[in-house]
Amino acid sequence: MTQLILGLETSCDETAAAVITGDGEVCSNIISSQAELHARYGGVVPEVASRRHLELVEPVVAEALSQAGVELADVDTVAVTQGPGLVGALLVGLSYAKGLCWASGKYLVPVDHLDGHVASLFLGEVQVEPPFLCLLASGGHTLLALVPERGGFEMIGGTLDDAAGEAFDKGARLLGLGYPGGPALDRLAQEGDPTAYSFPVARVDGLDFSFSGVKTALLYAVRDLGDVALESARADLAASYQAAIVSALLQRLEQAVDQTGMENVAVVGGVAAHRALRAGLERLGARVAPLSLCTDNGAMIASAARYAPNVASAGHLAVDAYPSR
Ligand code: KG4
Ligand code: ZN
Repeated sequence: MTQLILGLETSCDETAAAVITGDGEVCSNIISSQAELHARYGGVVPEVASRRHLELVEPVVAEALSQAGVELADVDTVAVTQGPGLVGALLVGLSYAKGLCWASGKYLVPVDHLDGHVASLFLGEVQVEPPFLCLLASGGHTLLALVPERGGFEMIGGTLDDAAGEAFDKGARLLGLGYPGGPALDRLAQEGDPTAYSFPVARVDGLDFSFSGVKTALLYAVRDLGDVALESARADLAASYQAAIVSALLQRLEQAVDQTGMENVAVVGGVAAHRALRAGLERLGARVAPLSLCTDNGAMIASAARYAPNVASAGHLAVDAYPSR
């Protein structure tokens, strides 16, 4: 009988659980987004997120097992995000996973969320084989990494300030698009002219990123226009702002390809769901995980667990969550 792994992800505002097989077949992948709950606050409220994870974790896991057509008893290993993320939110998933393992004697595999994003490339039909160069762009992180083998990566560039997804979300907010902003900004940008405004992205040394300058440039543009003029300029602003961030990501990726000589390139993380970025990545020949595996999900956590050490019961009770890497 093939090995079954239950993966649990609660690091931010998605309560997610999935069942995968040892060879990377996704049997179920349930994602319950709390986005609507946080929308009224304009962003994720950590305490609200933790409480919602508490309500959702049990039904989401039950649904993942049910859709996979298995019982908890059939599962061999429980994988859970240990960090980085919101500590209160992480603790809900981690405590739940510990409880499951404690009650059933199963092995627990604590997984790093970023290893999880990279491991989204080792699932399903299109599995990307290391070594490859990986751009990880999400709401919380933006980094370039060399992936020499499954189960680890070496960071060769990171962001000095905001993550790319954060820049999209904050830009969207400046344009009155609410939370979550990335997808809404992407939609509005389709109606605008990307050359209408010139938003410079800071050039920093090496393979690092910086997005705080472009965000401030948008803030000034919005302020200078005033409410009336802003209304008719919103689509152009969205398109120009988005184009600046997308071209910064693509330029850095191309530079990394030149510097490392690595032509096998893949992109993971929620920002990879971005239509404009995906189009540019296709031109570069980069591999992109399917949409359902780009944003936070349990399948990627279960996938990473295949290459991470497990902790036997009851040693797992000592495993703690961590907010940053
Ligand atoms: O990987 P992710 O789900 O969460 C983190 O680990 O942070 O990434 C979330 C980010 C958001 O900031 C959002 O801007 C972007 O991914 N995003 C999208 C879409 N879905 C998520 N951007 C454009 N289009 C989407 N459909
Ligand atoms: Zn993520």
